[in-house]
Amino acid sequence: MDKLVNKVLLGDLRDVCSNIPNNLVQSIITSPPYFGHRKYSGEDKYDNEIGRERTLKEYVNNLVYCFELLKPKLKNSGLLWLNLGDTYRKKELLGVPWRVAFALQDKGWILRSDIIWKKPNAMPSSVKDRPTKDHEYIFLFSKTSEYYYDADSIREPHVTFTNQSKMKGGRNHFGKKNGTPENGKNAGNQNLHDGRWDQAFHPQGRNKRTVWEIPLGKFRDAHFAVYPEKLVEICLLASTKRNDFILDPFTGSGTTGVVAKKFDRKFIGVELIKKYQEMAQKRIDETTFQATLFDFTQFI
Ligand SMILES: C[S@@+](CC[C@H](N)C(=O)[O-])C[C@H]1O[C@@H](n2cnc3c(N)ncnc32)[C@H](O)[C@@H]1O
Repeated sequence: MDKLVNKVLLGDLRDVCSNIPNNLVQSIITSPPYFGHRKYSGEDKYDNEIGRERTLKEYVNNLVYCFELLKPKLKNSGLLWLNLGDTYRKKELLGVPWRVAFALQDKGWILRSDIIWKKPNAMPSSVKDRPTKDHEYIFLFSKTSEYYYDADSIREPHVTFTNQSKMKGGRNHFGKKNGTPENGKNAGNQNLHDGRWDQAFHPQGRNKRTVWEIPLGKFRDAHFAVYPEKLVEICLLASTKRNDFILDPFTGSGTTGVVAKKFDRKFIGVELIKKYQEMAQKRIDETTFQATLFDFTQFI
């Protein structure tokens, strides 16, 4: 098994997947090719490239088949983070991410959250008859209702405590200077106790929200659909501990592997196209462990 650690396996996921032991992986963090977007192989010949299917139905079926093969690799306590973008055909938005999500639900995956990845630096577009799209989805799936999730590792700053906010938790909010839910004009209001206290006043911040604003990463030239390291960081911190295995079955340029290594997780990747497999392996080999603390301020 050690020979798999921090390695990107070359080949079609559907062939290579059997090399990965069952119940090994704590978290799958991945972004498969989107439907009909682009050919990663360029002029090279790869008939088995996901995303090049003739119909949306074939694409959804292929992805569902891939994730059914991956399911036994994931521990029962594990999570799947699936990033997907949408596609327009003849002016119509196809709703691809949700179609995939529903199809996975039909196979027993538990959809725990939809997350909007908002891209502040999304490519400008020339459309004039609809809003310009600047988001993609991330779906969070579990295999069972009990799974590992470290909410504290990805908390966000409380908006109620910022200087810009009208709800500072001072006199205005609680009718008393330095008021709290227990000690102020709302004292005795059951709604502000227990769970609400944790939501609003947890010392490490509020629970992570479902809209994540993260700029596209720097490594865009080498592979045209690279997701940002920050996005992987959040998924990784919430769903794994040090030394856990993380799998990216559509490795591309290797972003998941780079972040996994930086945070001392063990990575396994799969990539169909040789030039990307080599690029990803090189990037991962050149990455070293960095004991980074999560930077909450980026979300303020
Ligand atoms: C959207 S890209 C992943 C980008 C990656 N998240 C990154 O940050 O670089 C999807 C990748 O899946 C690969 N791919 C397509 N079909 C595949 C298959 N059948 N098995 C394994 N990988 C495949 C493509 O070559 C492409 O590099």
